[in-house]
Amino acid sequence: MEYRQLGRTGLMVSVIGLGAGGPSRLGQRDNFNTEAESIALVRQALDAGINFIDTAEAYGTEAIVGQAIAGRDRENVVISTKKRLGGEKVTPQQLRAGLEDSLRNLRTDYIDIYHLHGLPLEHYPYYKDQILPVMEDLRSQGKIRFTGVTEFWSRDLDHQMLQLALNDDLFDVIMVGFNLLNQQARGTVLEAAIRNDTGVLIMFAIRRALSRLDKLRLALQELIDLGELDAADVDLDNPLGFLLEDGAAKSIPDAAYRFCRDEPGVHVVLSGTGNPQHLVSNIASLQAPPLAPKHIKRLKRIFHQARSVTGE
Ligand SMILES: NC(=O)c1ccc[n+]([C@@H]2O[C@H](COP(=O)([O-])OP(=O)(O)OC[C@H]3O[C@@H](n4cnc5c(N)ncnc54)[C@H](OP(=O)(O)O)[C@@H]3O)[C@@H](O)[C@H]2O)c1
Repeated sequence: MEYRQLGRTGLMVSVIGLGAGGPSRLGQRDNFNTEAESIALVRQALDAGINFIDTAEAYGTEAIVGQAIAGRDRENVVISTKKRLGGEKVTPQQLRAGLEDSLRNLRTDYIDIYHLHGLPLEHYPYYKDQILPVMEDLRSQGKIRFTGVTEFWSRDLDHQMLQLALNDDLFDVIMVGFNLLNQQARGTVLEAAIRNDTGVLIMFAIRRALSRLDKLRLALQELIDLGELDAADVDLDNPLGFLLEDGAAKSIPDAAYRFCRDEPGVHVVLSGTGNPQHLVSNIASLQAPPLAPKHIKRLKRIFHQARSVTGE
């Protein structure tokens, strides 16, 4: 397993992080997995050397992660979780209560990275002025080690909230949407994160469009219709098939994970699954050699204008 330093946190984290949210929620979203199967999946990840687990109050999977890590050496697991932010602004009391719930669910007395979950751009000033000081207080009490923020990508396609946050340089860690279909974060977010030495977690590495061919076709067609992709650059009968020629990549998800992993500024690529076989292949992808430079160059050229799809 490759471990990277998560920016200025100094934490050494596996390059693949297990995501307990996204379309799968460890297999809990559609009751695909029993609770025991989801717990086993988290333990499978830990046994394979993954030491980074991302969950959230909103996912309903904190207690599963808590059960999975019970009895393990807490020092060897980096837990990332998040305070749900709805349409209404979260009060300091609600933030403190949410953290206590997360600690109870996760059966721990500290959270390594505590995020504001999907912070809306228009609420940024409020959270910066009223809530971040509360997070800093919780940090001084030892309940949070590092602060983080995640974006609501589909409502903030240009990463405006993260740009503000990076400009203020207030958070230790950010979670940003990035994948081979939409690489806009490279210029708007990742370069600033490198300058600040901010820890960077990638979400949406494959999501739906890069894990299902029908969704990939739809996403490519949407980009063509929007004028953000040249139809001559893709074959909708065999979308992105060039990535698989000569065994260059094993599958589109394989190529998509490797593409994200080698992007400068990226520390952890989150992988959400409820399927033990997918977990095995995703771990292998994130250990595989880099994609061929000609393929990376081609993906950068083809999608350089793509900004309106997230891969959903
Ligand atoms: N704003 C936020 O804070 C936010 C938003 C989204 C996500 N996240 C975090 O990021 C994590 C990752 O989520 P994501 O949204 O980025 O999704 P993702 O992990 O890129 O994609 C997950 C989807 O891909 C499927 N999949 C996984 N491996 C596969 C494989 N090898 N072959 C085919 N299909 C595969 C999964 O289904 P199976 O279960 O069948 O494998 C699931 O439907 C989440 O768990 C969460 O921790 C955070």
